[in-house]
Amino acid sequence: MALELEMSLAKPATASNEVRPADAALSVHGLTKRFGERVAYEDVSFDVGCGEIFGFLGPNGAGKTSTVRTLGTLIAPTSGSATVAGVPLTPENGETIRHRVAIMPETPGLYLRLSVEENLSCFADLYEVDDPADRIEHALRAVGLADRAKDACGSLSKGLRQCTALARALLSDPELLFLDEPTSGLDPAAARDVHDLIRELRRRGTTIFLTTHRLAEAEQLCDRVAILNRTLRTIGPPEELRDRMFAHTLVVRVRRPLSSPGPTFSSLPSVDAWQEDACGSYLLTVSDPDVAAPATTRALVAAGADVMSISESQHSLEDVYLEFVDTDKEVERS
Ligand SMILES: Nc1ncnc2c1ncn2[C@@H]1O[C@H](COP(=O)(O)OP(=O)(O)O)[C@@H](O)[C@H]1O
Ligand SMILES: [Mg+2]
Repeated sequence: MALELEMSLAKPATASNEVRPADAALSVHGLTKRFGERVAYEDVSFDVGCGEIFGFLGPNGAGKTSTVRTLGTLIAPTSGSATVAGVPLTPENGETIRHRVAIMPETPGLYLRLSVEENLSCFADLYEVDDPADRIEHALRAVGLADRAKDACGSLSKGLRQCTALARALLSDPELLFLDEPTSGLDPAAARDVHDLIRELRRRGTTIFLTTHRLAEAEQLCDRVAILNRTLRTIGPPEELRDRMFAHTLVVRVRRPLSSPGPTFSSLPSVDAWQEDACGSYLLTVSDPDVAAPATTRALVAAGADVMSISESQHSLEDVYLEFVDTDKEVERS
């Protein structure tokens, strides 16, 4: 997909867990939204650095869309405070914030009988975009839709409608872009095109706040992720969350069972525990795989074992997510 969007100069991405206030594109403190008795989200606090791709994960009803709508000034929070693109989130600042951010909502909400270009033109008017023809052209080229400009939106595939909605969100050249489940319902090829677009936008300096159900997507794209389930459960770079929650495990396969695995494994540096699994492999819980793997290899060779493989078992972001979501279900049931 051709990407030719001209936007502001690229800013560095923030990969660490800490975001300095001066670098924050979003700063959220104790934010709560209730609809009557129903809590959409509660006491949510986090920062997003400029130029970051920040993933916002959580099950249906977790409060993701309500958070996006609050930070995009579409609904008012019940309590708490936030700074959005450097501007305090208050009713009087709504317009200023809306000039700096854009939201791509869960459903594209396009006029299906109008062409792609006509749709963008309507919204450019609504957003009072300067030089709309130029912005529309740039946005269309950015999402690779320049050659479909005259097609009715109703005739486009779901993927291309999503791209049109993304082009609409880019019309105002936002500093901060909220994408609410942008790949929901897309086939893998269309989702990959949207991923490429997101990466390109980040490369050009746009901060991306991405809600998604696709955990592999979050893992590939996001510098940091937060898991929300009405309250914020955890936050950090995906690999750090994995390391924080799961011990490292080495999977050791040998041709024949060891005659005395206990003495072989127990004395090794960095090996904290071991067990044999149903397939006859040995699972070693280790504190430092770089120390444990070579030491284990040497010990097995010394014990006369035929080593088939020693590999590190990888936990995914999905494992982290399920720890939180499953635990929550149990809490709700109890
Ligand atoms: N306009 C609304 N009026 C009443 N309840 C709402 C409204 N919008 C969302 N909710 C409720 O807030 C909760 C969070 O919804 P939402 O933010 O859409 O979650 P998510 O996007 O994570 O699926 C849900 O219980 C939902 O029913
Ligand atoms: Mg939602």
